[in-house]
Amino acid sequence: MNILGIETSCDETSAAIVNDNKDILANIVLSQLEEHRAFGGVVPEIAARAHIDHLHTLIKAAMDDAGLDFKDLDGVAATAGPGLIGGVIVGMMAGKAIAASQNIPFIAVNHLEGHALTPRLSDNVEFPYLLLLVSGGHTQILVAEGIGQYKRWGTTLDDAAGECFDKSAKLMGLPYPGGPEIQKIASLCENPTEALKRFNLPKPMKGRKELDFSFSGLKTAVRLAVDKLPEGDLKRKDIADLACALQYTIADVIADRASRALDRFIEEYKPQTPALVLSGGVAANIAIRERLENLCKEKQVQPYAPPLKLCGDNAAMIAWAGLERLQAGLSDPLNFKARPRWPLDPTAEKRHGAGVKA
Ligand code: KG4
Ligand code: ZN
Repeated sequence: MNILGIETSCDETSAAIVNDNKDILANIVLSQLEEHRAFGGVVPEIAARAHIDHLHTLIKAAMDDAGLDFKDLDGVAATAGPGLIGGVIVGMMAGKAIAASQNIPFIAVNHLEGHALTPRLSDNVEFPYLLLLVSGGHTQILVAEGIGQYKRWGTTLDDAAGECFDKSAKLMGLPYPGGPEIQKIASLCENPTEALKRFNLPKPMKGRKELDFSFSGLKTAVRLAVDKLPEGDLKRKDIADLACALQYTIADVIADRASRALDRFIEEYKPQTPALVLSGGVAANIAIRERLENLCKEKQVQPYAPPLKLCGDNAAMIAWAGLERLQAGLSDPLNFKARPRWPLDPTAEKRHGAGVKA
C-alpha cells in the first residue's frame, strides 16, 4: 500500500510517500525560513502563498524519488488542521484533487496525530503509550490508546515549549526558529553549573499535581535577565550561559511533568512494557531527549523519540497517519473542511488561555 502525504500547516511545504512496510519512499521538506526570517516569526499569508508556489513541484519530485506514478497510489493523506488555515486549505485541495482524479481514498489527517504516530513509523511502539507532544504550537501530555483515540492529561496554560524557545531566542538576539539556535549556543557554555547559578530561572508548575505546563513566566524571566546584562551588544558568553540555563530549565520542567504522568500511566493502564514517546519539533532537542532517557531508565520505561529528520514538520508523518487510518477503515469525504483548531482529545476540559490550538 502506497500513500502520498501532504503537509502545509505551518512554514514547511512537504510531500512524502510511505508504504505499509514502513518504507519512506520519499520525504521532501521545503522550509520557508528565508521568507519569514525578516519578520522573526511565521507570517500566515506569506506561508499560504509559498505553499501554492512550491507544492506541485514537491509532489512531482516526491513521486519521482519514489519511482511511482499516481496510479500506483492507494490513497492521499493531507493535513487538515490544526494550523494556519490558508496553508492547510492549499494542501488539502491538492490532496483532494489527486484523490478525485485517481478515484482513491482521501484521508484528512490531524497534524497532531501525525506527530503522535511517528514513533510507530520509525519504531514498533504498541498502544497504549504515554505521549509527550512538544512543538512550536503545543505542549501536551496524552495517552495514545489507539488510532484516533487520545486522552489528554495535561497541556500548556499559556505558551508552548517551542514558543518559549523561539521568543527567548529573539530576546537574546538569536534568529528564528529559536530552538535549534539555543541548543547550538548552549553547547558553547563552558561551565553549566555556574550558568545555572548565575541565571536562576523559575520552573513554572514544577512539583504540581496537575499535569499542565506554563512557559510564559519563564520567557518573562529571560527578558528580565537580558535587561540586566550590560548595555550594548550582548556578549557571547552571557548568551551561552543564559541559553544553557533556559534549556536546562525547560528540560527540567518537562521531565518533572513526564515523571508524574508516567507514574499515573503505569498505575492506570498497567502496560506490560510501558513506553514514553517524545514527539514534535522540540523532540529534536538533545538535552531534553537525554533528560527523558535518564528518567525512563530510572522508571524502567522504554523511551522513544523519532529520528531528528522526523521530529519537525514533514509529510512522511502525515502519509503514515493516513496509512494507519486507512488500514483501520477510515477515510474522509472530499468536502471535508479544514480545521484551524482540532484537539486530539475533544472531550478534554478546555483550558483558559491554552492557545487557539490546544
Ligand atoms: O513540530 P514543529 O516543526 O512545528 C509545529 O507544529 O509547531 O515544531 C517547531 C518548533 C519550533 O518552536 C522550534 O524552535 C522547535 O520546534 N525546535 C527545537 C529544536 N528544533 C526545533 N526546540 C528546541 N531544540 C531544538 N533542537
Ligand atoms: Zn508540528
